[in-house]
Amino acid sequence: MTQAKTFAELMERMPRLLAPSLARDWPNLPIDRAEGMYLFDTQGRRYLDFTAGLAVMNVGHCHPRVVAAAQAQTARMIHSAVGVTQVESLLRLAEALIEVLPPGLDTFFFSNSGSEAIEGALKLARYATGRPGFIAFWGGFHGRTLAAAALTTSKGKYRRRYEPMLPGVYFADYPYCYRCPLGKAPETCQMECMRSLDNLFERAIAPSEVAAIIVEPVQGEAGFVVPPPDFLHHLRRICDEHGILLIFDEIQTGFGRTGQMFAAQTFGVTPDVMAIAKSIGSGFPLSAVVASRDLMEKWGPASHSTTFGGNPVAAAAGLAVLDVIREENLLENCRRMGQKLLAGARDLQNRYPIIGDVRGVGLMVGLEMVIPDGGQTPNPDAARNLLNECLSRGLLLYSAGLYSHVIRIFPPLIVNDAQIDEALHILDESLAACG
Ligand SMILES: Cc1ncc(COP(=O)(O)O)c(C=O)c1O
Repeated sequence: MTQAKTFAELMERMPRLLAPSLARDWPNLPIDRAEGMYLFDTQGRRYLDFTAGLAVMNVGHCHPRVVAAAQAQTARMIHSAVGVTQVESLLRLAEALIEVLPPGLDTFFFSNSGSEAIEGALKLARYATGRPGFIAFWGGFHGRTLAAAALTTSKGKYRRRYEPMLPGVYFADYPYCYRCPLGKAPETCQMECMRSLDNLFERAIAPSEVAAIIVEPVQGEAGFVVPPPDFLHHLRRICDEHGILLIFDEIQTGFGRTGQMFAAQTFGVTPDVMAIAKSIGSGFPLSAVVASRDLMEKWGPASHSTTFGGNPVAAAAGLAVLDVIREENLLENCRRMGQKLLAGARDLQNRYPIIGDVRGVGLMVGLEMVIPDGGQTPNPDAARNLLNECLSRGLLLYSAGLYSHVIRIFPPLIVNDAQIDEALHILDESLAACG
């Protein structure tokens, strides 16, 4: 009988076992277990996880409430094919979500991943409006399934060799003020980039043919690009004027990340449709398309359905997530810790000219790395070195941006003062080590 392989041996086999298409470029840590803010590798080394499992673990790793809820539901029933059987945990989750979503968003189509929720949102928009077109934004990321990838322009690699993609998709400028697409300054520009929508309407697609405008309220993969406060209000007005649906992709910004439960509340704009995922299930696969009852009524029976969507165990975990966010006051903590992190990052920017821009909202803080010659040339080498230096000191961060030159800092919302101080100290030492 062959002996079972050790984890170390399996890690050596990993490149043979997993598809090379996967984004496994960095850092490929073999992790044994995770708890709260920390990951522990197979040598027992501890890492502060300031990526929150890529915005999935907003309540921290293996939160005891989430573990207990999932264990209890697992013993009761693991799978329910919606439409054949109904389970309590999912209906309870829907009721609980209504309480924390912007008013009017009260009907759900549950699915498994972010991309799947985006697919659902697009199908709902086409079906309900009878219109073919979509407008997305340059730099946006909406997922890797074909339709979601067709809306994605954060990096060319997500689209290359997959053409032809979904037809009827057009792109408008996102207000990425540090690198203004029009070369303007935010103080005086009056959001001229919004004219790119008028341009599309005049030259490419009539507004009456557009089903939806889809937008990340804060662009994630593009490098935590925070738009000016007016931007989403402006989109709301345009959509209302032309009967276009406004879809918010809150997959990365949802569940407290921006300091309110959703970025819709942070910016004070309610979309017609929302796609939510990531932290909803604290690591269990769960996502949802959310819209008003009136809009959902237009999506005819069996026009979109699912086998696995709305898994009972994931839903039980999701209910626990909402309880934890409320009971542990995580929105307030996110705002407080976010301000501290942003202030600390700005202080680093003042001392290290290799940091060209610091921006953020809540616990979504980005450091844009540049060549330190007074200009804005992206510096992916500096970003990579900084990630490695931080990792060697026990701090896990991740990159973003067109050239992977932005450092994303997005810890779980349970992070405390001491952990923010520790992360800033490690960043300081690592920046000094980068030279
Ligand atoms: C804003 C946004 N939309 C969509 C997705 C796709 O989600 P998933 O990877 O679960 O399909 C992501 C994932 O990173 C995301 O950040």
